[in-house]
Formats: sequence, C-alpha cells, structure tokens
Amino acid sequence: MKEKLEQILKDAQGEIEKCDDVKMLDEVRVKFLGKQGELTSILRNMKEVPPEERKTVGMLANGVREKVEEAIAKKGEKLNETALKLAMEKEKIDITMPSKGEKRGALHPLTRFNNKFMDICVAMGFTVIQGPEIDTDYYNFEALNVPKNHPARDMQDSLYITDNILLRTQTSNMQVHAMEELKPPFKIVCPGRVYRNDDDSSHSPIFNQFEALVVDENVGLKDLMKMIDVILKKLFGENVKMRVRPAYFPFTEPSIEIDATCQMCQGKGCSLCKGTGFSEVFGAGVVNPKVLEMSGIDSKKYSGFAFGPGIDRSVMVTNKIPNIKYLFRNDMRFLKQMR
Ligand code: PHE
Repeated sequence: MKEKLEQILKDAQGEIEKCDDVKMLDEVRVKFLGKQGELTSILRNMKEVPPEERKTVGMLANGVREKVEEAIAKKGEKLNETALKLAMEKEKIDITMPSKGEKRGALHPLTRFNNKFMDICVAMGFTVIQGPEIDTDYYNFEALNVPKNHPARDMQDSLYITDNILLRTQTSNMQVHAMEELKPPFKIVCPGRVYRNDDDSSHSPIFNQFEALVVDENVGLKDLMKMIDVILKKLFGENVKMRVRPAYFPFTEPSIEIDATCQMCQGKGCSLCKGTGFSEVFGAGVVNPKVLEMSGIDSKKYSGFAFGPGIDRSVMVTNKIPNIKYLFRNDMRFLKQMR
C-alpha cells in the first residue's frame, strides 16, 4: 500500500509538472483528487485495510493528498502568472505611438441649426413636441381651414399615400394635434420633416420646417412680430433687419410673410436676394378663430399666433451650400466640409 501511495504521488507530480495550461491542470486534479480519483478511492476504501495498518495508511494517504493539492496550487499560481505575463506582452499599448487619426464625427448643419432654434424657443418658454410625418388630410389641411378642392391646396403640391393619407406638407399639422391635446394657454414648437412634390436645385421633396404656436388670452399680431424680431436677432445677430409683407394662409388671419436681411450678402444685394438685400424666412400669422374652434378652443376667450419657418434655406445660405440636395445626400465629402 505504501508503495502504491508513493507511486501515486510520483505519477501526480510528474503529470502536474507536464501541465502547461490551467485546463490540463484541472484534468490532473480530477484524475487524482476527484470523486473517481485514485487517491480518493484509497481513502474511501479504508475499511478494507487491516485495522492495525489503518492509521499509518490513513496518515500516508492524507499526506499524499496534501502534497498533491499543494503541488497543484503551486503549479496553478505559476501558470496564471505566465498567462498574465503573456497577455501583458500581447496587449501592450505603446502610448508614445502616433495615433491612427480617429475620424471625428460632427453634427449635420441642419441639426446644428435646428438645435440653435430649439434652444432659443425653449428659453422663451416653448415646449418642444413632435408628431406624425404621415398624417391624414384632416390634420394637414381640413382642420387648418383648407377644405377639399380649396385652391390653397395648390400652394403645396402634396404626396398622397391614399385619398385620405399623405406625407405632411407642413408642420402646421402639429398645430391641430397640439390644440386637440393641450389646454390653453400653451406655447409649443415642433421641428420636423415635411414633404412636397417639388424638385430642383433650391427645392427638395423633403425639407425641414418648424412650427411655433402660441395660444393664450389676448395675444395677437403685435406679440407675434416682437417675438419674431427677438428670434431673428438671436439667430442671425443683432444687426438683422426684418421686413413684413402681407400674405395668405387659410389658417391664419391676418397672414404675413417675414423677410430678414439676406445672410448671403448681409443686405448689400446679391443674386440670391435678387438685389433686394432681404430673403424670405417665415410664413406666420394670427390663428384664424375658425381653426381654434374646429379643434375645440373657445375663440372668444383665446387667441393665438403661429409661425412656420423652413430651415433648409437658412442653412444653405449660412453655410454657402449651392444645392439643397447636398443636405440630404449623406455624401462624406460634403459633410466633412460642414464640420
Ligand atoms: N405652414 C406654412 C407653410 O408651410 C407656414 C405657416 C406656418 C404660415 C404657421 C402661418 C403660420 O407655408
């Protein structure tokens, strides 16, 4: 028995020595110390050892077990150490190496302009909301006082999906959604994509607008003009001048068109502004009481005003972009220049 135990110890030590990874070492552990292991079976079968030898054999066997355990632990430590050394060698980072020049992303010029506009409006107490780009004829037109067959529909060449569902032609659909959902007084602003059947170097079938709507007691044209003046100054600088022209939108009465100092020539006159020094920026107006009533707002108590600038034109001018399509093509050569 003694020899057998010594043989086991020798075998175990030999095999432990040969291990060159933790997995192998674990297999050796199972082989000798596991439930079916050689040493374990000797310890388990102590009953069969004659009583007078039991004590010595037991001590010997336990001694062997301790030695094997120790050898395994030692080898394990050594293996872990080498593995760590190897990993450190392999994953070494030379912080003095020149960088590969990570490509840095940047916000799209439309997003930047959008954010600037949003910040200005939020600072003035507006809540930003968002809503559907695919909407029903009711929200896009009818509830804005543009009934079916109304000639004003010709102003916005629309992309219909069914007779009743279309890609919104204006963010003004959000005026109706807001009036249905919110209790006055409220001030909302809604940025978003709009769609029209238009396509040339200054018109894209997709473009971006904002809708700002204020509904409160005793608000009107004066408040609208003052607010626009403040916004334009914040957007384009203190020197910007604004010009107001009468306009027509079925959902506002009176309706106005706001022009601002041309940002291409700073008012000197250029081909873009056709020598006038001004370019058109917003449609705006005092909400038609009929529109308030249609969405369940008491037009005797409340009034409102709205404005809806298209932002693509401003982004083009301020960044000297010659064709509106560049804004939507995701061409890296263009985007890199816009950083
Ligand atoms: N929705 C109008 C357009 O797209 C602009 C507008 C918005 C006019 C709000 C008046 C009030 O032309």
